[in-house]
This record gives sequence, C-alpha cells and structure tokens, in this order.
Amino acid sequence: MDRTAQLVARPPESAVAYDRPPRAGVLHDRAARVLEENWTGSSTVPSRGLYPHQWSWDSAFIAIGLRHISPLRAQSELETLLAAQWADGRVPHIVFNPAVPLDAYFPSPDFWRSSTAGHAAGAPRAVETSGIVQPPVHALAAWLVHCADPELSRGRGFLARVYPRLAAWHRYLLHHRDLGGGGLASVVHPWEQGMDNAPSWDAPLARVVPAPARSFRRADLDHGAAEDRPTDLDYGRYVRLAADYRDEGYADVVSGFAVEDPSFNALLIASEHALARIARELGATGTARHARAERLTAALIERLWDPAAGMFLCRDLRGGALVPERGVSGLIPLLLPALPRDTAATLVRTLTGPHFGLGATTRLAPSYDLLGEAFDPHRYWRGPAWFNTNWLLERGLRLHGERDRADALRRSLLDTAGATDFAEYVDPYTGEACGATGFGWTAALTLDLLHTPTFDIRAKDTRDKGGDRG
Ligand code: SER
Repeated sequence: MDRTAQLVARPPESAVAYDRPPRAGVLHDRAARVLEENWTGSSTVPSRGLYPHQWSWDSAFIAIGLRHISPLRAQSELETLLAAQWADGRVPHIVFNPAVPLDAYFPSPDFWRSSTAGHAAGAPRAVETSGIVQPPVHALAAWLVHCADPELSRGRGFLARVYPRLAAWHRYLLHHRDLGGGGLASVVHPWEQGMDNAPSWDAPLARVVPAPARSFRRADLDHGAAEDRPTDLDYGRYVRLAADYRDEGYADVVSGFAVEDPSFNALLIASEHALARIARELGATGTARHARAERLTAALIERLWDPAAGMFLCRDLRGGALVPERGVSGLIPLLLPALPRDTAATLVRTLTGPHFGLGATTRLAPSYDLLGEAFDPHRYWRGPAWFNTNWLLERGLRLHGERDRADALRRSLLDTAGATDFAEYVDPYTGEACGATGFGWTAALTLDLLHTPTFDIRAKDTRDKGGDRG
C-alpha cells in the first residue's frame, strides 16, 4: 500500500496520541469551527472580511485540512474551483461569489471582466473569475483528499473527474507559461506567485508604471492595518499589470513582468508527482509523469539554484538575471523528493542559519531574509511568517530525514495557530498576530498537522517504477 495512504488512513485518535500536544482536542475543534464559519456551501473563503471569495491556492491548502473532518466537503472545495477553469487550462486565482457586493473586494469582477475580456482564452461564461493564476497545489491536494477516504472518492468518481482538469492545468503552465524557454513556468503578476509583496519583486516591479491612486479604491485597508499591507505605490503597480494583461485578452507573452519563481515551480513539481499517483490509481502507470517531475527538478536546479546564497532565487526574465533577494520561496523546494542530498542539506543549513534563523532566533521561518535591507517583521510577505510556507517546510524537513527539526516546527505551528486565533501571518520573532484572524488555511493546516504526524510525497508502492529516490 502507498505510504502516504497508510499515513492518512490512520484514525485521528492515534495521531493525537502520537503528538500529545496540550489541549489538542480543543485546538482541533477550534480549527474545525473556523472552517465551518468560512464555508459558503460550496467552498471556503480564506477570511470572511479580507478575502470574501474563493481563492485558488487557499482552497487547495484548505482541502488538505478539510479532508480530515469532511472528505466530501474537501472534494467539493476542489471541484468548485476546477469548475471555473478556463478552456486554455488556467485555473483562476479567484472565483467570485456573485452574492458578495462588488465593493467588498478589489479588484472586483467588473475589473477583471473575465467572461468578456477572457473570451479568447476560454473563460467560462457562467461564473466571473480573475484572469491570473496561483501556485498549482491542486493535484497534491486532490491526491491527499482521495487518500483520506478512498472508498468515498471511488464511489463518487472524484479522481476520474478531476484528473483531466488537473492535467490540462499543468499543460497550460508548462506550455503557455514557459516564457523563459528553460522548461519552468513563469508568473506574470506578483499575485500569481502568492507572496504578493515579496522584496524579490521590487526590481522587476520597479519598471511598471503604477496606475494612478485615484483610479481605484483599495478594499483591503478596510480590514487590515495599513502598516501590515502593501503600499499604495505597489498596489498601483499590481493594478496596472493586471489591467494590461486583461487588455491583451489574457494572452501569455513576456510583457511588463515575467519571473521564474522557485516555490511556484516546486509546487508544480510536487503536484506532478501527485498526478502520477492519481494516474496510477486510475489504471495508468504514471511513469511518464514521475519522469517529468524529475526533469523539472533538474531544470529548477539548473535555472534557479544559487550556490553562494545556499538556496534558490527568482529569475527575472526581463534581463535574465537571478534576483539577489533571499525569500522563503527559495527554501520551499525542500519539499521535492528528487532533490540531490547535498542540495537538501544546504537548504536546511540556510533555513536554520542567520538569514532565516529557524530554531535559533525564530520559531517559524520568516517570509524574507532577517538580514535583508527590506526586512519588516509585520509587512505583508516582507518578513512575517506564514503557516502555509512553514507547513511546506515541515513536510520537507520530514521528507529529508530532519525529524527533530520537523517536530519542533510542527509544535511551533500548532502553538502559534492556537495562540493567535488562526492568524493570517505572524511576527516571526514574537508570534504576534498580523492581518486577518480566523484564516482558512491556518486552521486547515493545523488540522492536517494534528492528523498526520508524518508525510512523504514519494511513492513507496512496490508497483512504482517512476524512479523516485528512495
Ligand atoms: N493577495 C492578493 C490580495 O490582496 C491577491 O490575491 O488580494
């Protein structure tokens, strides 16, 4: 039996017994309640106030936690998102809820105008979405959701229905978004990578002429403190990039902003490994997909590894150079099973060294270099610690045999989630809550950690001939 399936099949009680965190039952119930409160009937909002629609990578992380309390809802979460997929294969970063007033979130559906401006790219007619994407965590989520209740999944034909959509999504990224020609997917907007305001975007974004501040009204400042959120100047640039993309009919060409990012591609590779397992469950071999995941891992190292920094960096496709800023994105490839042993060991040293301080000066990995000039412990993606990136690092540490460090990070995640009422992000030194509370993926990943003490995205099944390192 597949090792991941064995782990997720373990009943919750034994996972709790394994961990014995104080008040695990209370924390579990509180996390489940956040997911109840954020559930709309067909999907889960990241946050009732700040993010009142369905977000793509949020939904994937949320499904990973939701599977432990309702595998059916977890399946619906992913199916609702995939129902809004465009004909060219892209999965939009936001699926708008028509019942939410237009001024509750900006940019709203009347800005993106997907059903008209996205017509040539195959945007759906029945639902309004944004036109950009977010990191492809979905196949990984779909596989883990299946493993939580294989009988229910098979009975509903869950994997058979989502597989073609997930395969088309990966095809879109690998064919339409290989803007650098080196095999990796590029992002064309900082929001696509998910770490909107990271200092790695400062240089590529500086070329973008901001939209005038009076031409739009930010809704995020109604819910978050201005000093925790991106500046107006950066917001003007986000708006300009999105408007230009829309006005070009959402066609993928290198224009104002195009960057190859380590975390986005690492998640694509992890999801490609998961697609291989899904294919195998559906009766194919999955061998070609595993081989592709390994080729992508080699391309990631070839194009984004920086030996001097001891980590991966972003590549700015305008100019072609690596961006000399250390962001947590460059550590996320630790998640990959085919990473060479010395690369994984170097990433662990960087994670625990002075730039990220994990286990020394910080209990959760910051989103950006503690020693970087742009470091700010509270400002969106310029220093605070996020739960999803730390969950990915916890999985990566465990995968590469760093069990004590993984256990310590897991404890920090659970303590901090409980102490901050499931904050969106926290000060990496003090654990002080920033942004929204009652945040969807914080609650979901708390549940996942309580239920699955260990994790391995490698196929250990004896039928697997995919060449996973073992
Ligand atoms: N995170 C971005 C926002 O603030 C885009 O999804 O809305």
